[in-house]
Amino acid sequence: MQLNEKIMTREALVGIIGMGYVGLPMAVEIARAGFRVLGVDVDEERVDSINRGSSYIDDIASEDIEPLVAQGLLGATRDFGELGQADIVLICVPTPINRAKDPDMSFVASATEQVARCQRAQQLIVLESTTYPGTTTELLQPRLEKEGMKAGTDFYLAFSPERIDPGNKRYKPGDIPKVVGGVTEKCTERAVLFYSQFIRKVVPVSSPTAAEMVKIYENIFRNINIAFVNELAMLCDRMGLDVWEIIDAASTKPYGFMAFYPGPGLGGHCIPVDPHYLAWKAKHYDFHVKFIELAASINDNMPYHVCRKVASVLNGMRKSVNGSRILVLGVTYKKDVADLRESPALRLLELLRQQGADVFYNDPYIPELILEDGALMESVPLSDRLLEDTDCVLIVSDHSGYPYEWIASQSKAVVDTRNAMKHHTFDHVVRL
Ligand SMILES: NC(=O)c1ccc[n+]([C@@H]2O[C@H](COP(=O)([O-])OP(=O)(O)OC[C@H]3O[C@@H](n4cnc5c(N)ncnc54)[C@H](O)[C@@H]3O)[C@@H](O)[C@H]2O)c1
Repeated sequence: MQLNEKIMTREALVGIIGMGYVGLPMAVEIARAGFRVLGVDVDEERVDSINRGSSYIDDIASEDIEPLVAQGLLGATRDFGELGQADIVLICVPTPINRAKDPDMSFVASATEQVARCQRAQQLIVLESTTYPGTTTELLQPRLEKEGMKAGTDFYLAFSPERIDPGNKRYKPGDIPKVVGGVTEKCTERAVLFYSQFIRKVVPVSSPTAAEMVKIYENIFRNINIAFVNELAMLCDRMGLDVWEIIDAASTKPYGFMAFYPGPGLGGHCIPVDPHYLAWKAKHYDFHVKFIELAASINDNMPYHVCRKVASVLNGMRKSVNGSRILVLGVTYKKDVADLRESPALRLLELLRQQGADVFYNDPYIPELILEDGALMESVPLSDRLLEDTDCVLIVSDHSGYPYEWIASQSKAVVDTRNAMKHHTFDHVVRL
C-alpha cells in the first residue's frame, strides 16, 4: 500500500521521537485521529508513564492518554529499532544552546542517526524541533541519503515547526495552523496530506528552510517586542507613568497594534533561546542580526531592574536588601505551567541572595529547585505568619490560583512584576 493510501485509511503507523511538551500533545492529537502512534524516548520514566496511561505534562490529562493506550492507538518505547515499522516519523527532541550560546544540535543529530539506522522506503520523516534555517537540508538530508535513498523519490523529508503554547487553553494543537516545507514538492504534498488529517489548516511553504525561518521569525518577533515594552516600562518608571495603563489604552486601537507586556525577564525553552539559533546561522553569511543583540541586552537586564525596584521599596521602609526577608511568589517562567526552564526567577533568587537577602519562595508547581551555585531551595507554604514575617513579596509568576487580595492585605510591601494585582488597590503594592 502506498503512503498516501495508508494515511487516508489510518493504516500508517506514526513514530514520534521525543515525548515532551511538544511530542506528547502531538501524539494524543494524532492517535485521536485514529492513527497508531509509537512514542520513542530515551527517558524510561516517561515511556513507562505513557504505557501506564499516565500523563506528566500539564496540558494533557491522564484521562486523555488512558483510552488511547487501552485501544492500542498509543504506546511508547525506548527501542529505536521499532521505528523501522513506522510509516511516518516526527522528530520533537530538544534544541537548546550551549554555554557559548551556540546551537546544541546533539539531540537532533542523534535522533537523525537513529532514524537513518532503521530507515525504509516510502517513509515520511518530519523534523518539528525549532532550529536554524538550513537544518533539514544540511544536517538531516545528507545523513538520510547516505545509504543511497533519495529524498522525494525513495522517502519524503520535511520540516514543520511546532507552534503549541503550553498552558494555553484556547488553542488546542488541532486549531493551530501548521506550516510545512518539504525538500521536494512530493515531500511537501505527503506532509500536507498527513497533517491535514488532524489539523484544520495546513500552510505549505516553498522549502524546509523557509519553514524553519518562519518559526524562528515568529519567536524572535515576540522576543524583540517584549524587549521594546520592557524598555518602555523602565522609561515609564523613571517618568512616573504607569506602563500598564499605557498598554491597555494603546490596545484599544483596532488595527496596527499588538499588546506585549513587560516582565521580570524572559524564560522558557523557546523565546530566550531561539534568537541565538538565527544569530549563529546569520554569521555564516557575514550577517549580524542587530535587533537580536539589542533585545537580549534589554531583556537580560530586567532581573537587575527588578532587584533595584525591590531595593527602592525596602529603602522606603528604611531597610536594605541585605538582611531583609524576601518572598518570591511564583518561580516558573510563565503562569500556570510547571516549567522552570530559563526562568528569570532563578536569576532573581541568585541576585537577591548575593546581596545578602534572606530569600525564600512559594510555587505550587515547583516543590523544590536547585540554584546555579548548588543551593537547594524548597517551596514554603503561604500563611498569615509567613507574610507577617516577610519584608517584601516579589511576584515573579502570576499563577491564577494565588489569593492576591489576601496576600496583599497581609504583606508589608509587594513588588508586582506581572500586574497580578491589577484588580486590587493597595498603596504598598508597587508595579513594574
Ligand atoms: N515547549 C514548547 O512550548 C515548544 C513550543 C514549540 C516548539 N518547541 C520546540 O520543540 C522541541 C522540543 O521541545 P519540548 O519542549 O517538547 O522539549 P522537552 O524537553 O519537553 O521534550 C523533549 C523529549 O525528548 C526526549 N529526548 C531527548 N533526546 C532524545 C533522543 N535522542 N531520542 C529520543 N528522545 C529524546 C527527552 O527525554 C524529552 O522527553 C524543541 O525544539 C523546542 O524548541 C517547544
